[in-house]
Amino acid sequence: MEEDEKAKLTIMPEKREILLPVGENLLIALRKEGLNILSPCDGAGTCGQCRVRFEQGAPTPTDGDRRFLNSQEIQDGWRLSCLHKVEGEAAIYLMTQTGQLDAKGQKDSPLEGGEIDPGIDAHFLQLSPPGQDDQRADLLRLRERLGQELPVPLPVLKRLPSILRDNEFSLTVIKAEKEILNLLPNDHSHEIYGVAIDIGTTTIACYLFELVDGCQLAVAAGSNPQSTFGADVISRIGYGREQKKGSEELRRLVVDALNELITRMVQEVGIKRDAVYKVTVVGNPTMLHLFLGIDPLAIDHSPYVPVIQNGLTLRAEEAGLAVFPFARVEILPAVSAYVGSDIVAGILYADMGTKDAIELFLDIGTNGEVVLAVGSRMFACSTAAGPAFEGASISQGMSALDGAIHRVTIEDGELSCSVLGGKEARGICGSGLLDAVATPQNRTPPLITD
Ligand code: FES
Repeated sequence: MEEDEKAKLTIMPEKREILLPVGENLLIALRKEGLNILSPCDGAGTCGQCRVRFEQGAPTPTDGDRRFLNSQEIQDGWRLSCLHKVEGEAAIYLMTQTGQLDAKGQKDSPLEGGEIDPGIDAHFLQLSPPGQDDQRADLLRLRERLGQELPVPLPVLKRLPSILRDNEFSLTVIKAEKEILNLLPNDHSHEIYGVAIDIGTTTIACYLFELVDGCQLAVAAGSNPQSTFGADVISRIGYGREQKKGSEELRRLVVDALNELITRMVQEVGIKRDAVYKVTVVGNPTMLHLFLGIDPLAIDHSPYVPVIQNGLTLRAEEAGLAVFPFARVEILPAVSAYVGSDIVAGILYADMGTKDAIELFLDIGTNGEVVLAVGSRMFACSTAAGPAFEGASISQGMSALDGAIHRVTIEDGELSCSVLGGKEARGICGSGLLDAVATPQNRTPPLITD
């Protein structure tokens, strides 16, 4: 076949037809079509996760296929997509990333620890109307009533005259420390909301809060879709460096996922996305760089230098978040290239370093961090953690998604496994693996062989 020739691939079961360049790596060709396939090793052929099943046109199995797939699976048409090129017309089923975590929200009690200070205020004001003896401009009238000379974004300022005259000069002013964010007719002073976001390497978690009293209203979580380009931060940095527009692709994926989670929360609670005026974001430095569209190209090699380390404040529209466009987005500061703002948030929440005590803080995620506080002195370090258990180098390893064995028990010599989603097992995740190796000596021989 000619090099620039295309081959028709039918995606089952929906029978969607796509044309892929003959000779291109199948995993990469599918990604370019927006089809995300779990691929923790990013195509290195070492994780065995990027499975597709050929209904028709299966290529000859490779040694790599045989390493991860048994003879029945190979006979059924399963192959590892990263190990094959597009050869000709075919029909395939995808093993896509599934298993969104979903924590249904409910109004919680206000945050512990007294008053909250989100840095956003809402004030209901009644202004005196103009007259022959009071010809002050609308904005001057508002600023003098507010007692502060704050700037107003032009799109918001344009609405001021009609808001005042249609509502007998009563309005709500929503402001940050140094800027008026929004003007609304009448009293909406209790309708200001904030979102807290933790961008994990594997999982993204979002929380919706009332900013007036700090009540938590909803929680939503999901897989970080960047996982299809590698389970760990190093693989993703490599993808961003090696692929043209790779960093932008990774940014778009995480921002889209965040907007979906935010939409889910505001719909569940019944408020408008435009009523969200504050977003606080934490995560490890690589995740935050990728969220901002900043190439973290110097983080993965000595001397491990991030582009940003201190906190950053920007507008929601700059970050691409679908909340009020001028909402404040605050990125908390990190400690170093591998100890991120999620750990800083944990230290603040746990009030570490303020007591005359020795304290230890552990965050065992895909990256694992440890902070030791001795009085007011703190020491922090980090290491890769999750992928060691969930995919990389464990032949049947996988993330905690549907089909993962997450509990293993042996009682009276009987082996019992619990599978996430109650489906047929297709792998084992970190908690299942730890369960399996933690069985007492007098139980059956080791369960896991690799
Ligand atoms: S992505 Fe194909 S084996 Fe890991």
